[in-house]
Amino acid sequence: MDQPDGMRTGPRIALDTLQRFARELAGCESRVDGLLTCVARHLNDEGFGFERVAVFKDGTGSFDPVPAAQHGFDDLEVLHGQLPPVEGWPLFRRALEQRCAVFARDAQLDGDVPLVVAGALRIRAVVAVPFIAGDSCLGLALVDCGGTAFEIEQQELDILTTAGEFVATALVPTVALEKERRTSELKSQFVALAAHELRAPVAGIHGVSSTLRDRGDDLLPEQVEILQRTLWEQSDRMRRLVDQLLDLSKLEQDAVTIKPRRFPVRARIESILRQVAPDRIVDVDLEVAPNLETVADPNGFDRIVANLVTNAFRYGEPPVRIAAQQLDTHFRLWVEDEGDGVSAEFAPKLFERFTRDGDRSDGGSGLGLAIAQTYARAQGGRLFYEDGEPKGARFQLVLPVKGREN
Ligand SMILES: Nc1ncnc2c1ncn2[C@@H]1O[C@H](COP(=O)(O)OP(=O)(O)OP(=O)(O)O)[C@@H](O)[C@H]1O
Ligand SMILES: [Mg+2]
Repeated sequence: MDQPDGMRTGPRIALDTLQRFARELAGCESRVDGLLTCVARHLNDEGFGFERVAVFKDGTGSFDPVPAAQHGFDDLEVLHGQLPPVEGWPLFRRALEQRCAVFARDAQLDGDVPLVVAGALRIRAVVAVPFIAGDSCLGLALVDCGGTAFEIEQQELDILTTAGEFVATALVPTVALEKERRTSELKSQFVALAAHELRAPVAGIHGVSSTLRDRGDDLLPEQVEILQRTLWEQSDRMRRLVDQLLDLSKLEQDAVTIKPRRFPVRARIESILRQVAPDRIVDVDLEVAPNLETVADPNGFDRIVANLVTNAFRYGEPPVRIAAQQLDTHFRLWVEDEGDGVSAEFAPKLFERFTRDGDRSDGGSGLGLAIAQTYARAQGGRLFYEDGEPKGARFQLVLPVKGREN
């Protein structure tokens, strides 16, 4: 920073770059990804002159970095899905806390960027520029000079802070518009899918009751018994489906109150197991310390864990391993089984509504994981899937705990 001008490496950031940037932003596309691609281009050679640019957007509302656009950071794609949440990035945390662009002279040495990212992308000197509007951070850019050392003046960081604010201002209406588009798409899709799912049990119930009404007197007792069992099964399926639909619609309207409170984790999981898999408890390895406590919404926790355990027995193979840990500011829980896991084609759709993996659905409606994910997000957390080692499915629930107790 104090070096004479002639020795300084790195781009020079002047006020007129900022003016050009503002003009470019005004002409950008009205979609979030299009806008961020345009931002990446202008932080790069065409504008601010950084050799490499990675732009992240918020995935959850509590700032969870999801790569949105890049220039020069070609390996970023490879890291997708492995990026730690923001508290794993001291550089991002600093940018959010200070609400301004921040510089790390050697991110690898200072641990400013998660090791997995810094190593894979060969990051050294780097600047993080947050996109902050009001109380929320809508995204963030990471810019550098191709992994080489460089210096930057405070005044240049101030210009970048302002550039980040410009991006946030442009993003606010774009994000709102996109959310509205998506909600209306989801709504029309949802009604069609719900009707489709309800049709099968309704048709079954109607068919059986018609037979009983028209020919009931002529049927043998064992035939009546079969019909009655079918009637019970189909009405039970319909009851579960209606419960799930009500759950989802309440969650969507924010009509479910999330009330975090402290509870012992192991005892709670044992009680869930007694309810959802009473005859399979011997097939569960419960690796949870007896004294482990967490702060979460107990109802949401039960819904998430119950669905993960039911799925592990329904679609996977025993033993089912359940582990939990309280690490730093987050509570983490894993449910894994030793079945075939989820196919690579299906994995990206796993948490969408009404989706099932080919013929491995076993009568489920494909709503359980969508509901579980919504409960996790309602608590500021997230549910992830990864393949188990050496085989099977592994689900991870991450919930923030800091200051959540009511
Ligand atoms: N542990 C697992 N192993 C393999 N596949 C799984 C596993 N868990 C879920 N799946 C796949 O994901 C699909 C979606 O699961 P989800 O819990 O959302 O719905 P479901 O179990 O089919 O129905 P519901 O939970 O609504 O009764 C399942 O149908 C199954 O194909
Ligand atoms: Mg399920």
